[in-house]
Formats: sequence, C-alpha cells, structure tokens
Amino acid sequence: MTRTKSPPSEAAVAPDAAEYAALVVELADHDRRYHTEDAPTISDAAYDALRRRLQTLEAAHPEFVTGASPSKTVGAAPSEKFTKVRHKVGMLSLGNIFADDEVAEFCARIRRFLGMAEDAPLAVTAEPKIDGLSCSLRYEAGVLVQAATRGDGYEGEDVTTNVRTIQDIPHQLNGKPPGVLEIRGEIYMTKAGFAGVNARQAEAGKPVFANPRNAAAGSLRQLESAVTASRPLQFFAYAWGEASQQPADTQTGMVAAFKRFGLPVNPLMVLCDSAEALLAQYRAIEAQRAALPYDIDGVVYKVDSIALQERLGFISRSPRWAVAHKFPAERATTILRKIEIQVGRTGSMTPVARLDPVTVGGVVVTNATLHNEDEIARKDVREGDTVEIQRAGDVIPQVLGPVLDKRPADATPYVFPDICPICGSAALREIDEKTGKADVVRRCTGGLICPAQAIERLKHFASRNALDIEGLGDKQIEQFYHDGLIATPGDIFTLAKRDARSLKKLKDREGFGATSVKKLFEAIDARRQMPLNRLIFALGIRHVGEGGSKRLARHFGSFAALRETARAAAPGSEARAEIENIQDVGGVVAECVYDFFAEPHNETVLDDLLKEIDPQPMEAIATTSPVAGKTVVFTGALERMTREEAKAQAERLGAKVAGSVSKTTDLVVAGPGAGSKLKKAVEFGIETISEEDWLARIAAG
Ligand code: IVH
Repeated sequence: MTRTKSPPSEAAVAPDAAEYAALVVELADHDRRYHTEDAPTISDAAYDALRRRLQTLEAAHPEFVTGASPSKTVGAAPSEKFTKVRHKVGMLSLGNIFADDEVAEFCARIRRFLGMAEDAPLAVTAEPKIDGLSCSLRYEAGVLVQAATRGDGYEGEDVTTNVRTIQDIPHQLNGKPPGVLEIRGEIYMTKAGFAGVNARQAEAGKPVFANPRNAAAGSLRQLESAVTASRPLQFFAYAWGEASQQPADTQTGMVAAFKRFGLPVNPLMVLCDSAEALLAQYRAIEAQRAALPYDIDGVVYKVDSIALQERLGFISRSPRWAVAHKFPAERATTILRKIEIQVGRTGSMTPVARLDPVTVGGVVVTNATLHNEDEIARKDVREGDTVEIQRAGDVIPQVLGPVLDKRPADATPYVFPDICPICGSAALREIDEKTGKADVVRRCTGGLICPAQAIERLKHFASRNALDIEGLGDKQIEQFYHDGLIATPGDIFTLAKRDARSLKKLKDREGFGATSVKKLFEAIDARRQMPLNRLIFALGIRHVGEGGSKRLARHFGSFAALRETARAAAPGSEARAEIENIQDVGGVVAECVYDFFAEPHNETVLDDLLKEIDPQPMEAIATTSPVAGKTVVFTGALERMTREEAKAQAERLGAKVAGSVSKTTDLVVAGPGAGSKLKKAVEFGIETISEEDWLARIAAG
C-alpha cells in the first residue's frame, strides 16, 4: 500500500501548472459569487471538490502556492452580516414528490394516519410553489415589528429594515388582526424585474445574477437597505408561525384572512377534494408555468383543515399534512472534460464530472455527480464524452448518460481508481456479510491518515447541525488543518490557549483580524457545554444521523453511560441488545456504535475532547407533559386514532413508545382485543389504562 506520493515528474508539472492557474481563477470567481453577490453558480459539494483539487495540486507542488492563493484567503461569511432571530415556531421545509401516482399515495397516507376510510372526503389545497426565499413577518397589534429569513428553520436573519422597503408588504395590517401574528410567505422577483436588475448590473459593469431566486436573495440580504429598495421584490403570503389567535380554522380561511389584512396572496390556489382534482390543478399550473410572471418549481398540496394539520403533525422537519409536487428536472448536454474523485468523511469516493459550463434552468453548471463506480460503468460514461445532465431544484446536478454518436474516437472506458487520490491508500469495496455483495461505494482505507477524511470529519464536527461553531466553516477548517493547527476535534477547543502562546498569532493572518479571532474563540467556548445529542451527531459515527443521535442521547442521558455500554457492546452481548432495542435504533446502528468505540484512535480522540468539553443532557421535549420521559406501549385496537398517530402524539409529548412490554415500561395503553402484552403488563405490575384515560391524561397536561 503506497501512502506517500512520489515526486512529480518534470513532464507532469506543466499541465498541473496550467490547471492550477485556471483553478485559482475559478475559485476566486466562486468565492466572489458566494460571499459578495449571494449568487453561487455551483453546489457546495462541487465547490468543495474544486477546493480539494487545489489542495492536491498544492501538496504536490508547494512552489505554486503564493499569499494570494485561494487556500490562504478566507471570505467573510455573509451570515455574519445580520443579527440572528430565533423562530418561536420553526420554519420547516416540505417533503418532495415527483411522480403522478405519489399524489394518491400522499392522500392515502393521510387518510391511513387519521384512520379515515379510503374514500372519505379529504379537502386539500393546491397552489404554486414559488421559487424565491421564505420570510417570516411578525406583526404585533397589526404593526410590522420584525422580518426574518428562514435560516436553518430554527434561527434566521433579521432583515426587518430591508423588508420595510418592499412595497407589497404592509407596515400596518388592515382590519382586526390578532395581537401577535407571524405571516410567512415567499419573497420573489418577477422574471421581468430580474431582467431589469441584470440589465442595470451589466450596464454598471457589475456581475449579473444567475436567476430570479438568487437575485431576490441577494437583494434582500443587503447591508444597505437602499439597495434592497431599488430592487423589485414582491411577496406572497401562504403560511403562518406564532399567532395569538387564529383568524380561521382552514388553510383557505387563513389565506383569505391574510388577503383581508392587506397581504398579497397567490391567485392560483384552489381547494380540491381528491387526488385526481389535485393532479388536474398540478397540470393546469404546469401549463401556465412559462406564462406566469414569476418562477415556480412545483405545486404545493396542503390539508385544508387546521385541526387535521395539527393531528397530522411533522415527520422530522417536514409536515405530514403538506407536500411539494416538483416539476420534472431540466436537462442539457455538454462535454465531460474530466472525472475526478471526491473523498468524503467516511472515505467514500464519489466521482464528480467536470463539465464545460452549461446553463440548465437558469443556473450555470460546471460539475455534476456520477454517483458511484457502478453507475459510471453501467452508463459507460467516458472522459471527452458529450453527456446529458439534469438539474432539479437545489440538488447536485447529475449525469444521465453519454450521447453516443458524439463520442470521440479515442475515448476509453473509465477505470475507477483503486487507490485514494488524496492519500494513496488502498480503496476497497466492502463486502456485505449478509448479502455477500460488494458495497456500491468504494472507500479509502487510510482512515485518519487520509487528509481528505480527517478534514471532512472536522467539517462535520463543526457543521451547523452538529456543533455549529460560527466562524469555523469549511474554509477555516481546511486552512487550520493544512497549517497543523487542528487535527482532531479536541484541538478546536485548545486553539485559543495555543494561540496565546504562539508567536504567529491567528489575528495576524490574512483574512483574520483581532475581532474575528475573538469572536471565533468565543463561539468555540460557547460550545463547551453542547447538548449531548449534538456531540453524538458531531462524532460522525456511520449510520448515526441527527435522529439516531437524539435517541441515543435520550436513552443514555450522559456521554459516559453511552460510552460504557458501547464499549461493552460486542456482538451477542447484553449491551449490544440494549442499544439495538432502543426504539428506532436497531442492529446496524448498534454495530456502528460498537465499531466506533472499539477503534483505539477514536478513544484517544474522545479522551482529548472530553478534557475540554462538558456535554449537557439533551433538552427534553415537552418536559411539562404528564407523559414526558415515560415509556409507553400501545396494544389492542385504538378507536379514536390510528396506532401511527398515537405514537407520533406520544413522542411529541416527550414519551418513548416501545413495541413490547418490559420491566422498563411505565404505561400500557390497552384497547379492545389486547392480549399477551396486556397480560405481561399485569404480571409486571405496570400501570394499564384505556385509550379514553390516555386522552384525558394528555389533555390534562
Ligand atoms: S408552505 C410547513 N407554500 O418551499 C411548510 N412553501 O420546500 C410551510 N415555498 O421553505 C411552507 N412556495 O420557502 C409553502 N406555496 C408555498 C410555497 C412554499 C414556496 C417554499 C418555502 C419553503 C420551501 C419548502
């Protein structure tokens, strides 16, 4: 296994130098588009691939690096421009569907969840999905007091001053609105407005925006509200957050109320009573799409009754009561110049196609994913091919396949590398013990000696849904890693101490300053007491996502307890069974947790980290509810709600719902026909109540 790179031959240097020079220009361009203009033209993943290529070239040719290299400069994160606003009611996103038959499935799922007959009437609205950016407008006593962007759904940016310049948005509501009302909707720019803005930008020698959505976002997120005022922004109201009183009990009623209060609402919303009617409205809106004055990217369906919306609740971050039916992806053809391999956090090697720039649905695409080795072979995609690419919404564009009659005569089949392009370690496809099949993903076996994996793990550790360390973004992590300042998570927390002793201070580096370094150190310190679930997620254990991390955190309560059980969780042990039996955890996660803690290197990393931090028990959900923290089992028939609904409701109130009765069960809710579980509950002396009692109990809380 080769782990070191051999020095480049003379012949290799010249093409590398040309590629390096082109990359420097390309990255500087993307940095400017992202940081200054709010108008990225490539996905984050594609940008990261460019960055990694730059690092590979710099590692091979240190002589290329100058002070102006993109690897030495750090752009100002735009999010630092605005004050943060915590949303009282989360601004969630929508699940997507693409195929026609998924509309009927959406309706059937809702009926099933609510225990309704298959043919029971169900009123659902259909309206265009506006391609802009969502915004929450807070009115108190009818006066606009705050406007915030969605951000990550929980925390957005305060854009009140800028929103006040949007003519569509009243500063004072008409009629008798509730004392507190957060109206949510989409800020957008019309196609004509966008053309005008770009014409003016071009005339002034300024960069143009890629599409109306980027133009709207760039115009709203301006430090100077005079600039926002000069841009033609518009608004459609379609949802709400906090409301001291609800002016209606249906979606359509709420939207009608928004209209009475003086807000613009979309005229294409209709109320339907069946999946067929929804699909007909989808077709009608799709037919008007090109002629509409603004961009839309699909149709949103919402259950009309707010009482039913409340019963349906959310799955993770999307409502069960609404869905976005997206329009088909847009396609284009271009030339695939090169296939490059991107190495992820777990060593996964993802092939990325580097393309001749092409506009797809208003966005310039230069990179697309080729998914994996088998997909390249199946489609027989070769470097030099003209390929068809597809882009849908925000997802990374993908290569659909080659245009065979345009294939150059000398194109050869692509050979997927069996060594890691970053560290030179062997790259293998694991064999699944159960199926005997090779994993679709080839992985670098270099572990932490592979800089790509080490960096990706650090990025994940500091990322928004993990530790969320402001000022420590991907770029800073790459820089700190390459400069030997941070190699493992614990190093993040000793950075300030080491910096104080160092002669080459962070504040003196290019791209930093005393204030930004002070802020960074404060942000790091603020995370020393992170919630346990975030810490578990941040570790990047395979198959342990945000949900799994919460379940583990809730079950174990402390990091020490998790670690002790995980260490003892060899196959077949009691500890393994304990992890496997946590509701919604299961065997794969249990195995990965065990493997993670069995790795000596991880143990060292954790020891170092735990010297620096003090993880806090996870915030319990709804601790005030009478069933919070209780383990509940539902058995027998339920008459007032479906099993699925009962489970979701119990979990919302902070209870754990288990599938079987054990000594740790606190409460059994038994309906008609309950059998062995009820018997066992009685044997163990567990409290057993009826569905009626359960409903009364949770209503009392
Ligand atoms: S309803 C709880 N209605 O789509 C769900 N969203 O993919 C509230 N969007 O973040 C959203 N048009 O920015 C809703 N008519 C519409 C919409 C719409 C556009 C956006 C919104 C949201 C995103 C989710």
